[in-house]
Amino acid sequence: MSDRASLRGPMRAHRGELASITALADAVFMQGRSGAMGDLFPRLFHERNLENLFVFAEAGRVVSHVGMVQRGARIAGCELYVACMGAVATYEEFRGRGLASQLVQAALDKARADGVDLMLISGDRTLYRRIGAFPVGRDFRCVADADILDRLRDPRMRVRKALAADLPACAAAYDAKPVRFVRPMEEWADRLNSQAAAEGWHHLLIVEENNSFRGYVAVNRGHDWGYGEVAEFGGAVETIAGALRAVCAASGESSLKITLQSHDEILRTLLTQAGAVFAPVSVDGAWVIVSFTRLMERLRPWIEARAGIDAVHSLACSEDGESCTLSVIGKTVTLSRTEAVQMIFGTIEGVPAPPTFCDIFPAPTIAYGIGYI
Ligand SMILES: CC(C)(COP(=O)(O)OP(=O)(O)OC[C@H]1O[C@@H](n2cnc3c(N)ncnc32)[C@H](O)[C@@H]1OP(=O)(O)O)[C@@H](O)C(=O)NCCC(=O)NCCS
Repeated sequence: MSDRASLRGPMRAHRGELASITALADAVFMQGRSGAMGDLFPRLFHERNLENLFVFAEAGRVVSHVGMVQRGARIAGCELYVACMGAVATYEEFRGRGLASQLVQAALDKARADGVDLMLISGDRTLYRRIGAFPVGRDFRCVADADILDRLRDPRMRVRKALAADLPACAAAYDAKPVRFVRPMEEWADRLNSQAAAEGWHHLLIVEENNSFRGYVAVNRGHDWGYGEVAEFGGAVETIAGALRAVCAASGESSLKITLQSHDEILRTLLTQAGAVFAPVSVDGAWVIVSFTRLMERLRPWIEARAGIDAVHSLACSEDGESCTLSVIGKTVTLSRTEAVQMIFGTIEGVPAPPTFCDIFPAPTIAYGIGYI
């Protein structure tokens, strides 16, 4: 084992280190399949994103890494700036020495300095809980087999592979969602151009009626999953419901794992009536508030929609280290950072908001969809 003196970090990655970072990520997450992580996460492992990749290196070799991508997001009319953190990895022989902990903190500090409100972390472990992250939200998940999907089947809906010319229509359908990321067109192109798409692990399927675009469904498959996972869909829900049987067949699977958010209520009802059984699930991973005061400012349109303009005018908030204080119409609550993220976005156990704030929270969570980091 190397001594601490020969390790450099925590530091931002520099130009020559990208290959060493992806080699680490491939070794830890992909059984060493060279290029696999770079293919799956092209925006994370990108020269343009080096300032958001944090590393420890020894003798020119990256031995521990934490990466993030910063992006806009929309939650019911609120414009947020979020960071998605992922590919957190340390080579086995360097583990348990606090390297990843320091890198997570370095990424969090940069996100805060950059004006990020909220961080979405692709995983839930002590490493993240220690900075105040928690698996929030209450989505609904089912695995629907061919019989269930047959009951919803609408023979007018045709499904085919997406082409580059379909991407603007897909983007328009995605942008109509009430909760979403701000997704540049290049990320749509990534979905089509990846090796995972070429090998049939990622599908982007277009739903058509009379040769006209009605929606899209993105499906991921894994080597041993035994089902296709609907990563994202866009378009009218009845259309999507009617197309799912064909989507399932086109993706080469006999059942589909489907996760729906609270605003997907109609599709959940249709699938339930067809026999699907949903269970509540939290978001993938854990979320942490980067700046409580900034997040509350950003959520003003949501607070107004739920509690009225007087509530927004009375809003006051502050944060002091781990302690977050919120005051609305004369009622005040002081919470730890972990409690605050649970109050704002809820949990599968329910809404741990104090009674005064129950009208306002939980706010909706964002699904990663095809932009998973
Ligand atoms: C997870 C991983 C990145 C941790 O890397 P590491 O450099 O060993 O991390 P650290 O030494 O900082 O922390 C190791 C553990 O000690 C804990 N720890 C560190 N300092 C601590 C402290 N002062 N007090 C209490 N716990 C502490 C961390 O929370 C962490 O717990 P966890 O593994 O249950 O999350 C590494 O084990 C790995 O690469 N695993 C495989 C890939 C993976 O699972 N990545 C995460 C995907 S979500």
